[in-house]
Amino acid sequence: MTKRVYNFNPGPSTLPLDVLKKLQADLLNFENTGMSIMEISHRSPEYDKVHNDAIALTKELMGLDDSYKVLFVGGGASTQFAYIPMNFLHKGEVAAYVDTGTWSTKAIKEAQNFGEVHLAGSSKEDGYTYIPQPEEIQYPHDAAYLHITTNNTIKGTQYHFLPDTGKVPLIADMSSDILSHQIDFSKFSMIYAGAQKNLGPSGVTLIVMKKNILDTIEDGIPTMIDYRTHVTKNSLFNTAPTLPIYIVKLVLEWIKDQGGLSTIETINRAKKDIVYGMIDDYPDYFRAPVRKDSRSWMNLVFRLPSEELEQKLVEEAKLAGFIGLKGHRSVGGIRVSLYNAMTLEGAEKVVEFIMNFRKNN
Ligand SMILES: Cc1ncc(COP(=O)(O)O)c(C=O)c1O
Repeated sequence: MTKRVYNFNPGPSTLPLDVLKKLQADLLNFENTGMSIMEISHRSPEYDKVHNDAIALTKELMGLDDSYKVLFVGGGASTQFAYIPMNFLHKGEVAAYVDTGTWSTKAIKEAQNFGEVHLAGSSKEDGYTYIPQPEEIQYPHDAAYLHITTNNTIKGTQYHFLPDTGKVPLIADMSSDILSHQIDFSKFSMIYAGAQKNLGPSGVTLIVMKKNILDTIEDGIPTMIDYRTHVTKNSLFNTAPTLPIYIVKLVLEWIKDQGGLSTIETINRAKKDIVYGMIDDYPDYFRAPVRKDSRSWMNLVFRLPSEELEQKLVEEAKLAGFIGLKGHRSVGGIRVSLYNAMTLEGAEKVVEFIMNFRKNN
């Protein structure tokens, strides 16, 4: 078999090997159709089963009942930044947002094009190095919704609590930590995530929506932007991104086969403990900018004593088969992305490599 690298890319990112093998095995003749999944109709019974299995698995893994709808749409998570206010922020209303950097900042900017935004909390003054805690998050009791970004892929922060919003609908961009640990998904009125980190390839966005939030949508929104279109048509109003949805289904099956979210969480906890353990053991060499209570389990960011050493580490790591360790261009440093599909062995090996690098440099 072709040699595979340890892929720490932030997204698109590594996929489970078993999923890739299944994809490869099924590619030329999917379910005895004599065609690949890419070549069959999105209205065929074979595809229909894939589609509905993916929906059922999402609900099962999240522990959600029929008061929730699962949608698969195109356009990436970024498109949702505009769709959310277009659907849920009406004239005379205020939408509340917590600003935790890059992606939430973009979501806020987009919402401001459609209505009034209330900044419910922000860690901007401290370079987005922490998640505002519950008592720091404040917004009008009649806000149209509160929007949070549960994991901040670039800054390396993550919510380790869920804001209790009472009657205000809670909406979350979970692009970079969806299905990575156990949480009470029923606290959310809407969850969305680009697939390309924990769910599959790019090209599809998962949306999980509580049915009752749909009642607040007003008429007059373009058909494809109105969430009710996709709910009514089970995400098959137009040609769905069938290949990405099929791969998402394989990934969801893989998560279930692993033992579901409790096992995934245990493995993810072990992975992040190894990397943060190394950082904390050598504080004179590694510097972790993120406050400890807000550290991400998915995107672990840290600095070395100099930018030259960081560059050297990234280059040497690549030669040794560890890909994607360069921090985002906006923040620099090192970023180790430990999404679900990264193995515990991968985390151990990269720590071994970085420890050796430290000794030699
Ligand atoms: C947290 C978060 N939200 C949104 C996005 C944007 O996703 P997309 O490229 O699917 O629009 C990203 C991309 O990395 C992300 O990490």
